[in-house]
Amino acid sequence: MKKLIAGNWKMNGTMESALALGTGVVEAIQASPQILERCDFVVCPPSLHIVPVETVLTQAVSLGAQDCAASENGAFTGDISVSMLKNVNCEYVILGHSERRQGHGETDAQVAVKAALAHKVGLITIICVGETDAQREQGVQEQVVGDSLAASLPASANPQNTVIAYEPVWAIGTGKTATPADIGAMHGFIRDALSKKLAGGEKLRILYGGSVKPGNAKDIFAVANVDGALIGGASLKTEDFMGIAQGA
Ligand code: PGA
Repeated sequence: MKKLIAGNWKMNGTMESALALGTGVVEAIQASPQILERCDFVVCPPSLHIVPVETVLTQAVSLGAQDCAASENGAFTGDISVSMLKNVNCEYVILGHSERRQGHGETDAQVAVKAALAHKVGLITIICVGETDAQREQGVQEQVVGDSLAASLPASANPQNTVIAYEPVWAIGTGKTATPADIGAMHGFIRDALSKKLAGGEKLRILYGGSVKPGNAKDIFAVANVDGALIGGASLKTEDFMGIAQGA
C-alpha cells in the first residue's frame, strides 16, 4: 500500500504563504516524480485558503479540509458544509482532530455524524483518535482509542472512504514522538479493531500523527500497519514535508 502523506496546515499562514507552500509541494514532486510510486499526497489548508490553493495543485496532490459541519446546510453561522467542500474539489476532510475535540468539545457522536455526511457526498474522511498523557500513564490507551474509534466511525465507513489517524494527544506539536514500539502496538490494536468491525478493515489506511519530522519518518514508516502520516508543524515547510515523504 502506498503511504498517504497528509499535511494539516491548521490555522497558519497567509494567502501568499499558502499559495507558495502548495506550489512548493507540487514543484518538489515534479522534480522527483518517482516519489509518487511510494506516496500519495494531500494538503489541508485553512478553509479560506482551500479555493486559491486548489488553483496551484496538480493531480499529484489532493486537497482536503480540516473540519466540516455536522449538518447539510442552513442556519449554521460560521460552518462549512460537506457539499461546499466537495463543490470546490476537496477530496478529503480531517475529522475529530484532538484540537477540535479538546478546544471545541467535539464528541465521537458528532464526528460520526460529520463522517456520514462526508461519505454521502463522496469525501474521504481522515478520522483522528488518540489518548492523552494521563490516559497513557494509567495504561488505558487501548480502551480509550478503541472506544473512540467504535463511536466515531459511521456505518458508511469502508476502506475507500475512510482513513484513521492515530495521534497521541501528548505527541501533537510537542516534539515528543511515540516510540516505534508504542506506535506498532497501537496500530496493531487499531488494525484488529477495524478488521473485526468492517468488511475490508485490513485494507484501511492507518496514519500516525504527532511530531513527525524528516528525522523520524523512516523509522515510523517502517512500523507494521503504519500507512502514512498526518503532519502538522512539519507540513508548513516544503523541505520538511517532502523530507518526510522521502522516508516512505
Ligand atoms: P504536529 O501535528 O505534526 O505538529 O505534531 C500533527 C497533527 O496535529 O495532525
